[in-house]
Amino acid sequence: MCGIIGCAGRDGETLDVLVHGLSKLEYRGYDSAGVALSADALDVCKTAGEISELRAALEERELSGTVGIGHTRWSTHGPPTDENAHPHLDCNREVAVVHNGIIENYQTLRDELSTAGHEFRSDTDTEVVPHLVEDELRDGHAPEDAVRRAISRLEGSYAIAAVVAGSDSIFAARNDSPLVLGISDDAYYLASDVPAFRDHTDRVVYLDDGEFAVLNGDGYTVTTLDGEGVEKPVETVDWDPEETGKSGYDHFMLKEIHEQPRALRQCLRGRVDELGGEVDLGDLGDLSPRGVQFVAAGTSYHASLYAAQLFRQAGIPAQAFLGSEYATSVPPIGDALVVGVTQSGETADTLSALREARRRGARTLAVTNTVGSTAARECDHALYIRAGPEFGVAATKTFSSQIAALNLLALAVTSVGDAREVISALRDLPGAVQEILDDSTAADIAETYRDADSYFFIGRGLNYPVALEGALKMKEISYRHAEGFAAGELKHGSLALVTENTPVFAVVTGSDEMATKTVGNVKEVEARDAPVVAVTDGASDVERYADHVLEVPDTHPRVAAVVANVQLQLTAYHTADLLGRSIDKPRNLAKSVTVE
Ligand code: G6P
Repeated sequence: MCGIIGCAGRDGETLDVLVHGLSKLEYRGYDSAGVALSADALDVCKTAGEISELRAALEERELSGTVGIGHTRWSTHGPPTDENAHPHLDCNREVAVVHNGIIENYQTLRDELSTAGHEFRSDTDTEVVPHLVEDELRDGHAPEDAVRRAISRLEGSYAIAAVVAGSDSIFAARNDSPLVLGISDDAYYLASDVPAFRDHTDRVVYLDDGEFAVLNGDGYTVTTLDGEGVEKPVETVDWDPEETGKSGYDHFMLKEIHEQPRALRQCLRGRVDELGGEVDLGDLGDLSPRGVQFVAAGTSYHASLYAAQLFRQAGIPAQAFLGSEYATSVPPIGDALVVGVTQSGETADTLSALREARRRGARTLAVTNTVGSTAARECDHALYIRAGPEFGVAATKTFSSQIAALNLLALAVTSVGDAREVISALRDLPGAVQEILDDSTAADIAETYRDADSYFFIGRGLNYPVALEGALKMKEISYRHAEGFAAGELKHGSLALVTENTPVFAVVTGSDEMATKTVGNVKEVEARDAPVVAVTDGASDVERYADHVLEVPDTHPRVAAVVANVQLQLTAYHTADLLGRSIDKPRNLAKSVTVE
Protein backbone atom coordinates (compact mmCIF):
# COMPACT_ATOMS: atom_id res chain seq x y z
CA MET A 1 0.00 0.00 0.00
CA CYS A 2 1.40 3.28 -1.08
CA GLY A 3 0.57 6.46 -2.97
CA ILE A 4 1.09 6.94 -6.69
CA ILE A 5 1.04 10.12 -8.75
CA GLY A 6 1.64 10.78 -12.46
CA CYS A 7 1.53 13.94 -14.53
CA ALA A 8 1.61 14.66 -18.29
CA GLY A 9 1.33 18.03 -20.02
CA ARG A 10 2.88 20.32 -17.42
CA ASP A 11 6.26 20.92 -19.06
CA GLY A 12 8.62 22.68 -16.70
CA GLU A 13 6.33 22.09 -13.72
CA THR A 14 6.12 18.30 -13.70
CA LEU A 15 8.42 17.81 -10.75
CA ASP A 16 6.59 20.36 -8.59
CA VAL A 17 3.25 18.76 -9.44
CA LEU A 18 4.58 15.32 -8.51
CA VAL A 19 6.12 16.32 -5.20
CA HIS A 20 3.08 18.37 -4.19
CA GLY A 21 0.83 15.43 -5.14
CA LEU A 22 2.93 13.03 -3.06
CA SER A 23 2.61 15.30 -0.04
CA LYS A 24 -1.17 14.86 -0.32
CA LEU A 25 -0.78 11.09 -0.46
CA GLU A 26 1.50 10.65 2.52
CA TYR A 27 -1.42 9.26 4.52
CA ARG A 28 -1.07 6.14 2.34
CA GLY A 29 2.49 5.52 3.43
CA TYR A 30 5.48 7.65 4.28
CA ASP A 31 8.57 5.54 4.81
CA SER A 32 10.28 6.37 1.51
CA ALA A 33 9.50 8.29 -1.66
CA GLY A 34 10.74 8.93 -5.18
CA VAL A 35 10.06 10.39 -8.60
CA ALA A 36 11.04 9.62 -12.19
CA LEU A 37 10.88 12.11 -15.05
CA SER A 38 11.05 10.93 -18.60
CA ALA A 39 12.04 12.45 -21.93
CA ASP A 40 14.78 10.94 -24.12
CA ALA A 41 16.25 9.48 -20.94
CA LEU A 42 15.02 8.89 -17.41
CA ASP A 43 15.90 11.01 -14.42
CA VAL A 44 15.20 9.39 -11.07
CA CYS A 45 15.50 10.55 -7.48
CA LYS A 46 14.40 8.42 -4.53
CA THR A 47 15.16 8.21 -0.89
CA ALA A 48 14.22 6.59 2.41
CA GLY A 49 12.18 8.79 4.73
CA GLU A 50 9.27 11.17 4.35
CA ILE A 51 8.59 13.50 1.43
CA SER A 52 10.65 16.18 3.19
CA GLU A 53 13.71 13.94 2.67
CA LEU A 54 12.88 13.64 -1.00
CA ARG A 55 12.53 17.42 -1.28
CA ALA A 56 15.95 17.82 0.32
CA ALA A 57 17.48 15.29 -2.08
CA LEU A 58 15.90 17.06 -5.03
CA GLU A 59 17.51 20.36 -4.06
CA GLU A 60 20.83 18.91 -5.07
CA ARG A 61 19.57 17.54 -8.37
CA GLU A 62 18.26 18.91 -11.66
CA LEU A 63 15.63 16.56 -13.01
CA SER A 64 14.08 17.12 -16.40
CA GLY A 65 11.40 15.41 -18.44
CA THR A 66 7.99 16.05 -19.98
CA VAL A 67 6.10 13.37 -18.09
CA GLY A 68 6.70 11.96 -14.64
CA ILE A 69 5.61 9.52 -11.96
CA GLY A 70 6.08 9.52 -8.21
CA HIS A 71 5.51 7.29 -5.22
CA THR A 72 5.31 7.38 -1.44
CA ARG A 73 5.80 3.99 0.17
CA TRP A 74 4.53 1.83 3.02
CA SER A 75 6.85 -1.17 3.03
CA THR A 76 5.60 -4.65 2.34
CA HIS A 77 8.67 -6.30 0.75
CA GLY A 78 11.96 -5.12 2.21
CA PRO A 79 12.73 -2.35 4.70
CA PRO A 80 12.42 1.35 3.89
CA THR A 81 15.78 2.06 2.25
CA ASP A 82 16.87 4.16 -0.73
CA GLU A 83 17.15 0.98 -2.83
CA ASN A 84 13.67 -0.24 -1.95
CA ALA A 85 12.06 3.16 -2.59
CA HIS A 86 10.12 3.44 -5.84
CA PRO A 87 10.41 4.08 -8.80
CA HIS A 88 12.15 0.85 -9.74
CA LEU A 89 14.19 0.54 -12.90
CA ASP A 90 15.17 -2.09 -15.43
CA CYS A 91 18.81 -3.03 -16.10
CA ASN A 92 19.23 -0.31 -18.75
CA ARG A 93 17.59 2.48 -16.70
CA GLU A 94 15.06 2.99 -19.49
CA VAL A 95 11.90 1.86 -17.70
CA ALA A 96 10.66 3.28 -14.38
CA VAL A 97 7.75 1.79 -12.47
CA VAL A 98 5.79 2.75 -9.35
CA HIS A 99 3.42 0.28 -7.75
CA ASN A 100 0.85 0.00 -4.99
CA GLY A 101 -0.23 -3.53 -4.00
CA ILE A 102 1.37 -6.94 -3.79
CA ILE A 103 2.55 -9.00 -6.74
CA GLU A 104 1.91 -12.52 -5.56
CA ASN A 105 3.92 -14.36 -8.23
CA TYR A 106 6.91 -12.05 -7.95
CA GLN A 107 9.28 -14.73 -6.63
CA THR A 108 8.68 -16.97 -9.65
CA LEU A 109 9.11 -14.02 -11.99
CA ARG A 110 12.20 -12.83 -10.17
CA ASP A 111 13.82 -16.28 -10.36
CA GLU A 112 13.03 -16.49 -14.05
CA LEU A 113 14.39 -13.01 -14.76
CA SER A 114 17.52 -13.54 -12.64
CA THR A 115 18.27 -16.76 -14.48
CA ALA A 116 17.96 -14.84 -17.74
CA GLY A 117 20.61 -12.39 -16.49
CA HIS A 118 18.61 -9.50 -15.06
CA GLU A 119 20.18 -7.76 -12.10
CA PHE A 120 17.98 -6.81 -9.19
CA ARG A 121 18.82 -3.89 -6.94
CA SER A 122 16.00 -4.06 -4.37
CA ASP A 123 14.08 -6.52 -2.18
CA THR A 124 10.73 -5.43 -3.59
CA ASP A 125 8.12 -7.36 -5.50
CA THR A 126 7.70 -4.32 -7.77
CA GLU A 127 11.12 -4.55 -9.36
CA VAL A 128 10.12 -7.51 -11.51
CA VAL A 129 7.88 -5.19 -13.53
CA PRO A 130 10.51 -2.93 -15.15
CA HIS A 131 12.61 -6.01 -15.96
CA LEU A 132 9.61 -7.68 -17.61
CA VAL A 133 9.03 -4.52 -19.65
CA GLU A 134 12.70 -4.46 -20.59
CA ASP A 135 12.40 -7.97 -22.07
CA GLU A 136 9.33 -6.99 -24.07
CA LEU A 137 11.07 -3.88 -25.44
CA ARG A 138 14.06 -5.98 -26.40
CA ASP A 139 11.71 -8.31 -28.27
CA GLY A 140 10.68 -5.34 -30.41
CA HIS A 141 7.42 -4.29 -28.79
CA ALA A 142 6.55 -0.61 -28.67
CA PRO A 143 6.49 0.87 -25.13
CA GLU A 144 2.69 0.71 -24.69
CA ASP A 145 2.54 -2.87 -25.82
CA ALA A 146 5.59 -3.81 -23.79
CA VAL A 147 4.01 -2.49 -20.58
CA ARG A 148 0.68 -4.20 -21.33
CA ARG A 149 2.41 -7.51 -21.96
CA ALA A 150 4.47 -7.22 -18.79
CA ILE A 151 1.45 -6.39 -16.66
CA SER A 152 -0.55 -9.28 -18.06
CA ARG A 153 2.02 -11.61 -16.45
CA LEU A 154 1.34 -10.29 -12.94
CA GLU A 155 -0.82 -11.97 -10.34
CA GLY A 156 -1.96 -10.13 -7.25
CA SER A 157 -3.02 -6.59 -6.55
CA TYR A 158 -1.62 -3.56 -8.25
CA ALA A 159 -2.00 0.00 -9.28
CA ILE A 160 0.97 0.57 -11.54
CA ALA A 161 2.33 3.54 -13.44
CA ALA A 162 5.30 3.31 -15.79
CA VAL A 163 7.34 5.61 -18.00
CA VAL A 164 9.77 4.54 -20.72
CA ALA A 165 12.69 6.65 -21.94
CA GLY A 166 11.98 8.03 -25.39
CA SER A 167 8.18 7.85 -24.98
CA ASP A 168 6.09 10.89 -24.00
CA SER A 169 3.41 8.79 -22.30
CA ILE A 170 2.60 7.37 -18.88
CA PHE A 171 1.20 3.84 -18.87
CA ALA A 172 -0.99 2.73 -16.00
CA ALA A 173 -3.09 -0.25 -14.95
CA ARG A 174 -5.09 -1.36 -11.96
CA ASN A 175 -6.16 -4.56 -10.34
CA ASP A 176 -7.49 -4.44 -6.77
CA SER A 177 -5.70 -1.19 -5.89
CA PRO A 178 -7.17 2.26 -6.55
CA LEU A 179 -6.21 4.47 -9.47
CA VAL A 180 -7.95 7.59 -10.70
CA LEU A 181 -7.22 9.91 -13.63
CA GLY A 182 -7.46 13.70 -13.37
CA ILE A 183 -8.53 15.53 -16.50
CA SER A 184 -7.90 19.23 -17.13
CA ASP A 185 -7.89 21.20 -20.39
CA ASP A 186 -4.20 20.90 -21.06
CA ALA A 187 -2.77 18.39 -18.61
CA TYR A 188 -3.55 14.89 -17.37
CA TYR A 189 -2.88 13.29 -14.02
CA LEU A 190 -3.16 9.92 -12.38
CA ALA A 191 -3.08 9.08 -8.70
CA SER A 192 -4.09 6.65 -6.01
CA ASP A 193 -6.53 9.26 -4.74
CA VAL A 194 -8.03 12.55 -5.86
CA PRO A 195 -6.38 14.92 -3.31
CA ALA A 196 -3.08 14.34 -5.11
CA PHE A 197 -4.23 16.46 -8.07
CA ARG A 198 -7.32 18.23 -6.69
CA ASP A 199 -5.48 21.58 -6.78
CA HIS A 200 -5.31 21.25 -10.58
CA THR A 201 -8.66 19.77 -11.56
CA ASP A 202 -11.97 18.50 -10.22
CA ARG A 203 -12.70 16.25 -13.22
CA VAL A 204 -11.88 12.60 -12.67
CA VAL A 205 -12.11 9.18 -14.30
CA TYR A 206 -12.05 6.20 -11.94
CA LEU A 207 -10.27 3.21 -13.44
CA ASP A 208 -11.71 -0.25 -12.83
CA ASP A 209 -9.88 -3.53 -12.36
CA GLY A 210 -8.39 -4.86 -15.56
CA GLU A 211 -8.16 -1.44 -17.21
CA PHE A 212 -5.13 0.16 -18.79
CA ALA A 213 -4.64 3.89 -19.33
CA VAL A 214 -2.23 5.88 -21.46
CA LEU A 215 -1.72 9.59 -20.69
CA ASN A 216 0.33 12.20 -22.48
CA GLY A 217 0.22 15.95 -23.05
CA ASP A 218 -2.46 15.54 -25.75
CA GLY A 219 -4.97 13.39 -23.88
CA TYR A 220 -5.67 9.98 -22.45
CA THR A 221 -7.14 6.64 -23.47
CA VAL A 222 -8.58 3.82 -21.38
CA THR A 223 -8.74 0.25 -22.65
CA THR A 224 -8.84 -3.21 -21.20
CA LEU A 225 -5.51 -4.88 -20.68
CA ASP A 226 -6.18 -6.67 -24.00
CA GLY A 227 -6.57 -3.37 -25.80
CA GLU A 228 -10.36 -3.11 -26.17
CA GLY A 229 -11.62 0.47 -25.86
CA VAL A 230 -13.62 1.34 -22.74
CA GLU A 231 -16.01 4.31 -22.43
CA LYS A 232 -15.39 5.94 -19.09
CA PRO A 233 -17.57 8.67 -17.60
CA VAL A 234 -15.81 11.84 -16.49
CA GLU A 235 -17.08 12.69 -13.01
CA THR A 236 -16.76 15.87 -10.98
CA VAL A 237 -15.63 15.80 -7.35
CA ASP A 238 -17.56 18.16 -5.15
CA TRP A 239 -15.12 19.13 -2.42
CA ASP A 240 -12.91 22.11 -2.27
CA PRO A 241 -9.08 22.02 -2.58
CA GLU A 242 -9.07 24.10 0.66
CA GLU A 243 -10.28 21.01 2.49
CA THR A 244 -6.98 19.32 1.79
CA GLY A 245 -4.95 21.85 3.88
CA LYS A 246 -4.46 22.23 7.65
CA SER A 247 -6.24 25.63 7.92
CA GLY A 248 -3.94 26.86 10.67
CA TYR A 249 -4.17 23.79 12.91
CA ASP A 250 -0.91 22.14 13.96
CA HIS A 251 -2.08 18.77 12.74
CA PHE A 252 -4.66 17.35 10.37
CA MET A 253 -5.96 15.26 13.26
CA LEU A 254 -6.81 18.31 15.35
CA LYS A 255 -8.36 20.04 12.36
CA GLU A 256 -10.46 16.98 11.65
CA ILE A 257 -11.57 16.64 15.27
CA HIS A 258 -12.77 20.25 15.03
CA GLU A 259 -14.49 19.62 11.71
CA GLN A 260 -16.87 17.13 13.30
CA PRO A 261 -19.86 19.43 13.81
CA ARG A 262 -19.74 20.45 10.14
CA ALA A 263 -19.16 16.89 8.96
CA LEU A 264 -22.14 15.67 10.98
CA ARG A 265 -24.37 18.38 9.55
CA GLN A 266 -23.28 17.39 6.06
CA CYS A 267 -24.09 13.78 6.80
CA LEU A 268 -27.65 14.65 7.85
CA ARG A 269 -28.37 17.35 5.28
CA GLY A 270 -31.43 16.59 3.16
CA ARG A 271 -31.79 13.13 4.64
CA VAL A 272 -34.05 13.65 7.64
CA ASP A 273 -37.54 14.98 8.14
CA GLU A 274 -37.85 15.62 11.85
CA LEU A 275 -41.56 16.43 11.84
CA GLY A 276 -42.55 13.36 9.89
CA GLY A 277 -39.96 11.17 11.59
CA GLU A 278 -38.75 10.09 8.16
CA VAL A 279 -35.33 9.34 6.75
CA ASP A 280 -34.54 9.50 3.04
CA LEU A 281 -31.29 7.87 2.00
CA GLY A 282 -31.98 7.94 -1.73
CA ASP A 283 -32.11 4.81 -3.75
CA LEU A 284 -30.69 2.00 -1.64
CA GLY A 285 -32.99 -0.62 -3.14
CA ASP A 286 -35.27 -2.76 -1.02
CA LEU A 287 -33.56 -2.69 2.35
CA SER A 288 -35.67 -4.78 4.62
CA PRO A 289 -33.08 -7.24 5.82
CA ARG A 290 -33.80 -10.25 8.02
CA GLY A 291 -30.28 -9.83 9.34
CA VAL A 292 -27.30 -7.53 8.95
CA GLN A 293 -23.62 -8.39 8.93
CA PHE A 294 -21.14 -5.54 9.18
CA VAL A 295 -17.60 -6.03 7.91
CA ALA A 296 -14.86 -3.52 8.64
CA ALA A 297 -11.41 -2.85 10.08
CA GLY A 298 -9.91 -0.55 12.71
CA THR A 299 -12.04 2.42 13.65
CA SER A 300 -14.69 1.41 11.13
CA TYR A 301 -15.01 -1.90 12.98
CA HIS A 302 -15.77 -0.01 16.17
CA ALA A 303 -18.46 1.97 14.33
CA SER A 304 -19.79 -1.38 13.10
CA LEU A 305 -19.97 -2.79 16.64
CA TYR A 306 -21.98 0.29 17.54
CA ALA A 307 -24.28 -0.11 14.55
CA ALA A 308 -24.84 -3.81 15.17
CA GLN A 309 -26.20 -2.92 18.61
CA LEU A 310 -28.58 -0.38 17.10
CA PHE A 311 -29.97 -3.01 14.75
CA ARG A 312 -30.24 -5.62 17.49
CA GLN A 313 -32.10 -3.12 19.67
CA ALA A 314 -34.57 -2.85 16.79
CA GLY A 315 -35.03 -6.62 16.71
CA ILE A 316 -32.91 -7.33 13.63
CA PRO A 317 -30.15 -9.90 14.18
CA ALA A 318 -26.89 -8.10 13.49
CA GLN A 319 -23.22 -8.85 13.95
CA ALA A 320 -19.99 -7.01 13.27
CA PHE A 321 -17.06 -8.93 11.78
CA LEU A 322 -13.46 -7.96 11.27
CA GLY A 323 -13.00 -8.03 7.51
CA SER A 324 -9.84 -10.09 7.85
CA GLU A 325 -11.69 -12.81 9.80
CA TYR A 326 -14.93 -12.84 7.87
CA ALA A 327 -14.16 -15.61 5.40
CA THR A 328 -12.95 -17.95 8.13
CA SER A 329 -15.87 -17.20 10.44
CA VAL A 330 -18.17 -18.82 7.84
CA PRO A 331 -21.15 -16.80 9.00
CA PRO A 332 -24.53 -17.86 7.66
CA ILE A 333 -25.76 -15.41 5.07
CA GLY A 334 -29.43 -16.27 4.55
CA ASP A 335 -31.21 -13.06 3.65
CA ALA A 336 -28.63 -10.92 5.38
CA LEU A 337 -27.54 -7.59 4.10
CA VAL A 338 -23.76 -7.30 4.31
CA VAL A 339 -22.63 -3.76 5.07
CA GLY A 340 -18.98 -2.81 4.47
CA VAL A 341 -18.10 0.12 6.68
CA THR A 342 -14.96 1.76 5.34
CA GLN A 343 -13.83 5.37 5.32
CA SER A 344 -11.52 4.92 2.38
CA GLY A 345 -13.54 2.29 0.54
CA GLU A 346 -10.19 0.69 -0.28
CA THR A 347 -9.27 -1.40 2.78
CA ALA A 348 -8.25 -4.77 1.34
CA ASP A 349 -9.54 -6.78 4.33
CA THR A 350 -12.97 -5.19 4.06
CA LEU A 351 -13.13 -5.49 0.28
CA SER A 352 -12.19 -9.13 0.49
CA ALA A 353 -14.99 -9.77 3.04
CA LEU A 354 -17.50 -7.96 0.81
CA ARG A 355 -16.42 -10.06 -2.17
CA GLU A 356 -16.82 -13.21 -0.10
CA ALA A 357 -20.31 -12.08 0.86
CA ARG A 358 -21.21 -11.46 -2.78
CA ARG A 359 -19.89 -14.88 -3.73
CA ARG A 360 -22.32 -16.32 -1.24
CA GLY A 361 -25.15 -14.39 -2.80
CA ALA A 362 -25.59 -11.65 -0.23
CA ARG A 363 -26.68 -8.13 -1.04
CA THR A 364 -23.97 -5.65 -0.15
CA LEU A 365 -23.97 -2.03 0.90
CA ALA A 366 -20.89 0.18 1.26
CA VAL A 367 -21.00 2.83 3.98
CA THR A 368 -18.05 4.95 2.95
CA ASN A 369 -16.61 8.43 2.79
CA THR A 370 -15.14 8.03 -0.65
CA VAL A 371 -17.21 8.48 -3.76
CA GLY A 372 -15.88 6.34 -6.57
CA SER A 373 -13.98 4.04 -4.20
CA THR A 374 -13.73 0.34 -4.90
CA ALA A 375 -16.21 -0.53 -2.14
CA ALA A 376 -18.72 2.01 -3.45
CA ARG A 377 -18.45 0.65 -6.95
CA GLU A 378 -18.42 -3.05 -6.16
CA CYS A 379 -21.30 -3.09 -3.69
CA ASP A 380 -24.92 -3.17 -4.80
CA HIS A 381 -25.48 0.17 -3.09
CA ALA A 382 -23.47 2.91 -1.40
CA LEU A 383 -24.35 5.19 1.48
CA TYR A 384 -21.93 8.11 1.78
CA ILE A 385 -21.05 9.50 5.17
CA ARG A 386 -20.06 12.88 3.63
CA ALA A 387 -17.37 13.69 6.20
CA GLY A 388 -15.09 15.36 3.63
CA PRO A 389 -11.48 14.27 3.10
CA GLU A 390 -9.65 12.95 6.17
CA PHE A 391 -5.84 12.94 6.16
CA GLY A 392 -4.80 12.19 9.72
CA VAL A 393 -4.01 8.49 9.88
CA ALA A 394 -6.06 8.23 13.08
CA ALA A 395 -9.70 8.38 12.00
CA THR A 396 -11.74 10.93 13.95
CA LYS A 397 -14.46 12.80 12.10
CA THR A 398 -15.19 9.79 9.95
CA PHE A 399 -15.98 7.69 13.03
CA SER A 400 -18.61 10.20 14.18
CA SER A 401 -20.03 10.51 10.68
CA GLN A 402 -20.13 6.74 10.26
CA ILE A 403 -22.19 6.49 13.41
CA ALA A 404 -24.52 9.24 12.26
CA ALA A 405 -24.96 7.54 8.87
CA LEU A 406 -25.47 4.13 10.47
CA ASN A 407 -28.08 5.63 12.78
CA LEU A 408 -29.85 6.90 9.66
CA LEU A 409 -29.59 3.47 8.09
CA ALA A 410 -31.05 1.86 11.20
CA LEU A 411 -33.92 4.35 11.14
CA ALA A 412 -34.51 3.74 7.44
CA VAL A 413 -34.78 -0.04 7.68
CA THR A 414 -36.13 -0.70 11.17
CA SER A 415 -38.76 0.69 13.47
CA VAL A 416 -36.81 1.72 16.52
CA GLY A 417 -39.04 3.39 19.03
CA ASP A 418 -39.70 7.01 18.30
CA ALA A 419 -37.92 7.97 15.06
CA ARG A 420 -38.68 11.65 15.64
CA GLU A 421 -36.83 11.56 18.91
CA VAL A 422 -33.77 9.90 17.36
CA ILE A 423 -33.76 12.34 14.45
CA SER A 424 -33.94 15.22 16.85
CA ALA A 425 -30.99 13.72 18.80
CA LEU A 426 -29.01 13.42 15.57
CA ARG A 427 -29.78 17.04 14.79
CA ASP A 428 -28.48 18.05 18.22
CA LEU A 429 -25.31 16.02 17.77
CA PRO A 430 -23.21 18.71 16.02
CA GLY A 431 -24.03 21.19 18.78
CA ALA A 432 -23.15 18.69 21.52
CA VAL A 433 -19.80 17.95 19.84
CA GLN A 434 -19.15 21.69 19.53
CA GLU A 435 -19.71 22.12 23.27
CA ILE A 436 -16.97 19.59 23.94
CA LEU A 437 -14.64 21.24 21.46
CA ASP A 438 -15.19 24.58 23.18
CA ASP A 439 -14.88 23.43 26.79
CA SER A 440 -12.88 20.21 26.94
CA THR A 441 -10.32 19.79 29.69
CA ALA A 442 -8.75 16.81 27.92
CA ALA A 443 -5.43 18.69 27.58
CA ASP A 444 -5.15 18.83 31.41
CA ILE A 445 -5.95 15.14 31.74
CA ALA A 446 -3.31 14.37 29.11
CA GLU A 447 -0.76 16.39 31.08
CA THR A 448 -1.70 14.68 34.37
CA TYR A 449 -1.27 11.18 32.95
CA ARG A 450 1.44 11.74 30.34
CA ASP A 451 3.75 9.28 32.12
CA ALA A 452 1.24 6.50 32.71
CA ASP A 453 2.37 2.92 32.04
CA SER A 454 -0.82 2.00 30.34
CA TYR A 455 -4.29 3.44 29.73
CA PHE A 456 -7.50 1.49 30.19
CA PHE A 457 -10.87 2.41 28.72
CA ILE A 458 -14.11 0.81 29.86
CA GLY A 459 -17.74 1.07 28.80
CA ARG A 460 -20.90 -1.00 28.36
CA GLY A 461 -23.46 -1.20 25.59
CA LEU A 462 -22.88 1.57 23.04
CA ASN A 463 -20.08 2.87 25.26
CA TYR A 464 -18.14 -0.37 24.77
CA PRO A 465 -17.13 0.28 21.12
CA VAL A 466 -16.23 3.79 22.22
CA ALA A 467 -13.93 2.35 24.91
CA LEU A 468 -12.26 0.27 22.18
CA GLU A 469 -11.99 3.32 19.94
CA GLY A 470 -10.57 5.47 22.76
CA ALA A 471 -7.85 2.88 23.33
CA LEU A 472 -7.10 2.56 19.61
CA LYS A 473 -6.65 6.33 19.26
CA MET A 474 -4.30 6.38 22.23
CA LYS A 475 -2.21 3.47 20.91
CA GLU A 476 -2.03 4.75 17.34
CA ILE A 477 -0.70 8.18 18.05
CA SER A 478 0.92 8.13 21.51
CA TYR A 479 2.64 4.73 21.07
CA ARG A 480 1.61 3.98 24.67
CA HIS A 481 -0.07 0.77 25.65
CA ALA A 482 -3.83 1.21 25.87
CA GLU A 483 -6.67 -1.25 26.01
CA GLY A 484 -10.42 -0.99 25.76
CA PHE A 485 -12.68 -3.35 27.70
CA ALA A 486 -16.31 -4.15 28.13
CA ALA A 487 -16.65 -2.73 31.64
CA GLY A 488 -17.98 -6.00 33.03
CA GLU A 489 -15.14 -8.02 31.56
CA LEU A 490 -12.27 -6.21 33.24
CA LYS A 491 -12.63 -8.26 36.43
CA HIS A 492 -12.20 -11.51 34.48
CA GLY A 493 -8.42 -11.29 34.25
CA SER A 494 -7.22 -7.86 33.16
CA LEU A 495 -7.93 -6.33 36.55
CA ALA A 496 -4.62 -7.93 37.56
CA LEU A 497 -2.88 -5.21 35.52
CA VAL A 498 -4.58 -2.32 37.25
CA THR A 499 -2.28 -0.24 39.48
CA GLU A 500 -1.95 3.38 40.52
CA ASN A 501 -0.15 3.89 37.20
CA THR A 502 -2.97 2.77 34.94
CA PRO A 503 -5.55 5.51 34.55
CA VAL A 504 -8.94 4.05 33.74
CA PHE A 505 -11.21 6.11 31.50
CA ALA A 506 -14.78 5.07 32.31
CA VAL A 507 -17.34 6.08 29.69
CA VAL A 508 -20.64 6.28 31.55
CA THR A 509 -23.64 8.01 30.04
CA GLY A 510 -27.25 7.93 31.19
CA SER A 511 -28.52 6.49 34.43
CA ASP A 512 -29.94 3.15 33.37
CA GLU A 513 -29.03 -0.26 34.70
CA MET A 514 -25.98 -0.44 32.45
CA ALA A 515 -24.68 2.83 33.85
CA THR A 516 -25.23 1.59 37.40
CA LYS A 517 -23.33 -1.62 36.67
CA THR A 518 -20.47 0.34 35.09
CA VAL A 519 -20.26 2.49 38.20
CA GLY A 520 -19.84 -0.79 40.10
CA ASN A 521 -16.90 -1.64 37.84
CA VAL A 522 -15.45 1.79 38.45
CA LYS A 523 -15.54 1.13 42.19
CA GLU A 524 -13.59 -2.08 41.57
CA VAL A 525 -10.72 -0.24 39.89
CA GLU A 526 -10.85 2.61 42.38
CA ALA A 527 -10.42 0.05 45.17
CA ARG A 528 -7.18 -1.04 43.44
CA ASP A 529 -5.86 2.54 43.52
CA ALA A 530 -6.22 3.18 39.81
CA PRO A 531 -6.90 6.80 38.93
CA VAL A 532 -10.34 7.11 37.35
CA VAL A 533 -11.32 9.59 34.65
CA ALA A 534 -15.09 9.56 34.26
CA VAL A 535 -16.27 10.54 30.80
CA THR A 536 -19.83 11.28 31.69
CA ASP A 537 -22.95 13.33 31.27
CA GLY A 538 -23.42 13.38 35.03
CA ALA A 539 -26.63 11.34 34.96
CA SER A 540 -25.15 8.59 37.15
CA ASP A 541 -23.12 9.01 40.34
CA VAL A 542 -19.85 7.90 38.71
CA GLU A 543 -18.27 11.27 39.51
CA ARG A 544 -18.22 10.31 43.20
CA TYR A 545 -15.65 7.62 42.44
CA ALA A 546 -13.64 9.55 39.86
CA ASP A 547 -10.44 11.54 40.23
CA HIS A 548 -11.28 13.62 37.17
CA VAL A 549 -14.28 14.22 34.99
CA LEU A 550 -14.45 14.83 31.26
CA GLU A 551 -17.89 16.29 30.77
CA VAL A 552 -20.30 15.14 28.09
CA PRO A 553 -23.43 17.18 27.30
CA ASP A 554 -26.73 15.51 28.03
CA THR A 555 -27.88 13.81 24.81
CA HIS A 556 -30.03 10.93 23.61
CA PRO A 557 -28.71 7.45 24.57
CA ARG A 558 -28.22 6.55 20.91
CA VAL A 559 -25.73 9.32 20.33
CA ALA A 560 -24.27 9.97 23.80
CA ALA A 561 -21.40 7.55 23.23
CA VAL A 562 -20.24 9.25 20.05
CA VAL A 563 -20.22 12.59 21.85
CA ALA A 564 -18.21 11.06 24.70
CA ASN A 565 -15.76 9.72 22.13
CA VAL A 566 -14.73 13.27 21.20
CA GLN A 567 -13.27 13.68 24.70
CA LEU A 568 -11.22 10.52 24.13
CA GLN A 569 -10.02 11.78 20.72
CA LEU A 570 -8.81 14.99 22.37
CA THR A 571 -7.14 13.10 25.23
CA ALA A 572 -5.22 10.91 22.78
CA TYR A 573 -4.30 13.94 20.65
CA HIS A 574 -2.96 15.99 23.57
CA THR A 575 -1.07 13.02 25.04
CA ALA A 576 0.64 12.36 21.71
CA ASP A 577 1.38 16.06 21.31
CA LEU A 578 2.99 16.27 24.75
CA LEU A 579 5.08 13.22 23.92
CA GLY A 580 6.18 14.82 20.64
CA ARG A 581 4.80 12.03 18.46
CA SER A 582 4.28 12.17 14.72
CA ILE A 583 0.54 12.65 15.11
CA ASP A 584 -0.66 12.68 11.51
CA LYS A 585 1.74 9.98 10.38
CA PRO A 586 2.33 7.57 13.25
CA ARG A 587 5.14 5.11 12.87
CA ASN A 588 4.42 1.83 11.04
CA LEU A 589 0.88 2.84 10.06
CA ALA A 590 -0.95 4.10 7.01
CA LYS A 591 -4.42 5.44 6.57
CA SER A 592 -5.52 3.29 3.73
CA VAL A 593 -4.33 -0.31 3.96
CA THR A 594 -4.74 -1.89 0.57
CA VAL A 595 -3.02 -5.17 1.35
CA GLU A 596 -4.32 -8.16 3.30
C1 G6P B 1 -6.13 1.59 8.68
C2 G6P B 1 -6.12 2.92 9.42
C3 G6P B 1 -7.24 2.93 10.46
C4 G6P B 1 -8.56 2.63 9.80
C5 G6P B 1 -8.53 1.28 9.09
C6 G6P B 1 -9.80 1.02 8.28
O1 G6P B 1 -5.66 0.59 9.51
O2 G6P B 1 -4.87 3.16 10.02
O3 G6P B 1 -7.29 4.22 11.06
O4 G6P B 1 -9.58 2.66 10.76
O5 G6P B 1 -7.43 1.27 8.18
O6 G6P B 1 -9.88 1.96 7.26
P1 G6P B 1 -11.18 2.21 6.41
O7 G6P B 1 -10.74 3.17 5.33
O8 G6P B 1 -11.61 0.91 5.83
O9 G6P B 1 -12.21 2.78 7.30
